[in-house]
Amino acid sequence: MNYQKFYQASIQEPETFWAEQARLIDWKVPYTQVLDHSKPPFAKWFVGGETNLCYNAVDRWLETQADKAALIAISTETNSEKTYSFAELHTEVQRMAAIMLSLGVKQGDRVLIYMPMIAEAAFAMLACARIGAVHSVVFGGFASKSLATRIDDAKPVLVVSADAGMRGGKAVPYKPLLDEAIALAEYQPQHVLLVNRGLDAMKLQQGRDVDYASARAQHMDAQVPVTWLESNAMSYVLYTSGTTGKPKGVQRDVGGYAVALASSMKNIFCGNPGETYFATSDIGWVVGHSYIVYGPLIAGMATIMYEGTPIRPDAGIWWSIVEKYKVTRMFSAPTAIRVLKKHPPELMRKYDLSSLKSLFLAGEPLDETTSSWIAEELGVPIIDNYWQTETGWPILSVARGVEAKATRLGSPGVAMYGYNVHIINEATGEECGPNEKGVVAIKGPLPPGCMQTVYGDDQRFVQTYWSNFAHEQLYSTFDWGIRDADGYYFILGRTDDVINVAGHRLGTREIEESISSHPEISEVAVVGVEDKLKGQVAVAFAILKHPALAETPEGSKALEAAVMAVVDKQLGAVARPARVHFVGMLPKTRSGKLLRRSIQAICEGRDAGDLTTIEDPSSLQQIKAALSH
Ligand code: PRX
Repeated sequence: MNYQKFYQASIQEPETFWAEQARLIDWKVPYTQVLDHSKPPFAKWFVGGETNLCYNAVDRWLETQADKAALIAISTETNSEKTYSFAELHTEVQRMAAIMLSLGVKQGDRVLIYMPMIAEAAFAMLACARIGAVHSVVFGGFASKSLATRIDDAKPVLVVSADAGMRGGKAVPYKPLLDEAIALAEYQPQHVLLVNRGLDAMKLQQGRDVDYASARAQHMDAQVPVTWLESNAMSYVLYTSGTTGKPKGVQRDVGGYAVALASSMKNIFCGNPGETYFATSDIGWVVGHSYIVYGPLIAGMATIMYEGTPIRPDAGIWWSIVEKYKVTRMFSAPTAIRVLKKHPPELMRKYDLSSLKSLFLAGEPLDETTSSWIAEELGVPIIDNYWQTETGWPILSVARGVEAKATRLGSPGVAMYGYNVHIINEATGEECGPNEKGVVAIKGPLPPGCMQTVYGDDQRFVQTYWSNFAHEQLYSTFDWGIRDADGYYFILGRTDDVINVAGHRLGTREIEESISSHPEISEVAVVGVEDKLKGQVAVAFAILKHPALAETPEGSKALEAAVMAVVDKQLGAVARPARVHFVGMLPKTRSGKLLRRSIQAICEGRDAGDLTTIEDPSSLQQIKAALSH
């Protein structure tokens, strides 16, 4: 089919178009209205329809492929590998659901999942979906303060966690961080369900903490019927960073999300029932939600959950998995590929990769060198795709399930169906011409699968995303971009204070707040600086209360380590700045606004930009001097 026609149909007649896509999932009760856009920018899809994500991911495959693989949990950290068929997954999810019900979880209640990449994490997500509870998965790399903020916002009645994860052969304890987070939080969850992997000794708190293995033993024959949910009921909340220090809870629906995933699995990811999908992300990120857990299962595919790094025991590990499980579609991030590129290619050439049909990469800009290298090594199409936690599925890519359109180096592709993408001039609010830089914006309604609102804060949703342009209510992605004359887009970085470290989205404000809590710090600026391997790294410039402390190299080193330790402890090592420099003054405008973009430019060896409003130009010299130390 011609993609242009397909795309135009999605924009011009969205209701007819999405009604067709909605047939890809099972509905208990048919919807009465495809789209309710009576209160823009809020969009309700498939109003009145009743369905269930867990039913579509698990139960509906029981008839045709009960014994086929559904979930393949591989850990190169604990050297374990276990395949669950759809029937076994169905059983485990019902056991987990029964435990949740026994712990008092009701429809609409939030359940926070703070877990390593183990099968039980997927059971917990699917169990929530089954009983209509709302999951809030928090990335295992986040530490106590990040976790506490999310506990207070989501107010979960139950937390599901584990003793520890493992990374690079070392146990990474979860339980102590969780205990600390609950102590920090104002809101107190009633129960904590803990998977004991035997990696780190745990102290269970009487009355609150429940051991998963014992609870499971009580529910071996559990049969928990699916709770049918109205399409616009809430399925989950996933927090993401923005301009403020407070992460936003991206809230998603049930029916629209299920349809968007089923549709994107068919049209973009080209996955078929019975095949194996391998996404190397983490359940704590949106890619893990959409394309480790729900998407592949909804498409009837086996999905791989992988705990480990791409290079342990050696850089051939992922490719050995592709060979062993005949993976047809793989999804990763550019940073991972850049890491692999540093290792001898023989390690991947050892394996039979003939099952693999394409590799999808997302989460950060894909540079041409990395893209060309991996394309040559694998001999399959490399499909870049651009999207956000907020949208849940690709905004830009090429939909090869519709038409085998060519990719273009450096571009994530063209606008995906359902997304009415525009490039807008930030100052005038006018549409940009071809190859003219502007903000990537989307005209509402957003297609099914995108965020419904900011959890608990409709106003923040409208204000943050839909109030950035002069003439029209448009959704802002907060990314700069250009569109070429053929409709291919190029993404040129964020317009806000969000940085992207190895495909992980982090807010510089959150890192600044954390650093400021160190007793010796009086002020700090954090910027994202270009990095060959990770895309960007965070670099901090801090003013000390007692500058003498950093006068000697030893003093400065010790303080830098202490500041990093604060970030590790509060936010997690994922947010740790690569460097902390101490300066006497930070570049600011006369009205006191930090000139982060100028600091970033200096760090990257570029011109500091427009400095007409700077309060004291010598502050820039201080940044330069700090960098030369
Ligand atoms: O800046 C864009 C960048 O990552 C942001 C979204 O991150 P997150 O919410 O974690 O969702 C990731 C979903 C894949 C975007 O605003 N980004 C994401 N994909 C790409 C990208 N930048 C360039 N190219 C991409 N393919």
